Amino acid sequence: MPITVRSFAKINLGLAIGLSRPDGFHGLRTVYQTVMLHDVIKVEVGRGVGIEIRSKDSRVPTDESNTCWRIADRVLRSLRQRGKVVITIDKKLPVQGGIGGGSSNAVATMFALEKALKYELPAAERLRIAAEVGSDLPLFLVGGTVLGCSRGEEVWPLPDLPSWNIVLATPNIGVSTPAAFQRWDDLVQREAKLTDNASSDRISLFSRSAFGWLTGEPTTGVPPKRGDRAETLLLDLVRAGIENDFERVVFPEYPELRDVKRVLEREGAKYASLSGSGSTVYGLFMDQAEAVRAADAMCNAGIPATATRTLSRQHYWEQMFA
Ligand code: C5P
Repeated sequence: MPITVRSFAKINLGLAIGLSRPDGFHGLRTVYQTVMLHDVIKVEVGRGVGIEIRSKDSRVPTDESNTCWRIADRVLRSLRQRGKVVITIDKKLPVQGGIGGGSSNAVATMFALEKALKYELPAAERLRIAAEVGSDLPLFLVGGTVLGCSRGEEVWPLPDLPSWNIVLATPNIGVSTPAAFQRWDDLVQREAKLTDNASSDRISLFSRSAFGWLTGEPTTGVPPKRGDRAETLLLDLVRAGIENDFERVVFPEYPELRDVKRVLEREGAKYASLSGSGSTVYGLFMDQAEAVRAADAMCNAGIPATATRTLSRQHYWEQMFA
């Protein structure tokens, strides 16, 4: 019987990039947040052998480079199972969009394949396989609000943030993540020459700001405003100085993305940012009608945009197989 799984997107609420490591990855720290927008992954296992990827979207690779293919191969080997696995990807999320589409598809494939085979991998094995396939996969084994450490694959569940309205603007630009990291290294090197401040620890700074923000204990000494928790946390996101380092290298390369952020802010977003290395730019809104208006304004300006909501851990798991 085919198994169908919703594959939700994520955004990054800030992202601090650390040093380039000997293994070619960068240390980073980020707060991931899952959102309701999703693809749908269908997995069927029949007689025979092999893995086949099907998608109506021509941008989706159907060969071994697809993260769904790579994870299915690892799951089969780990469970010592054989069969003809057909994975159908109903694509709604942008490709190379910084909202974890490919990573989320892979984790959804793992869950669906386990179900289809009627076997369950131990949690530690799921985590090992997910981290092997990509840095952004393990967060989807947690869902909701998640702290990302190391190269992004070390994940810690955080208490869920309140649900916010969100507009995801997805300009038709594909940003290469390795190239964005490379540009960051170039920038850090240039700045180090200018300021002699190579050792400034962005990760510690981010951690202090993020924990101050999440616990309501600001590091700036400014007491948090009283009032609605959802609104206070949203306003404090900006005040806490939580930013995405990728903006500093991606915006100069694609100035239209900075413009998208400005439009979202003008349309009433309390906080707007690039997600991951882009090209998705999101805005968080208190008011649903305002979010819908902002998404409409973006679409009228020729930028595909959707109004949706952030997704708590509980809803993430409830809705995955619904
Ligand atoms: O892990 P993932 O497959 O998403 O990484 C793709 C590429 O992005 C890596 O090969 C690396 O060049 C870069 N990357 C990095 N530091 C990270 C995550 C990714 O340099 N923390």
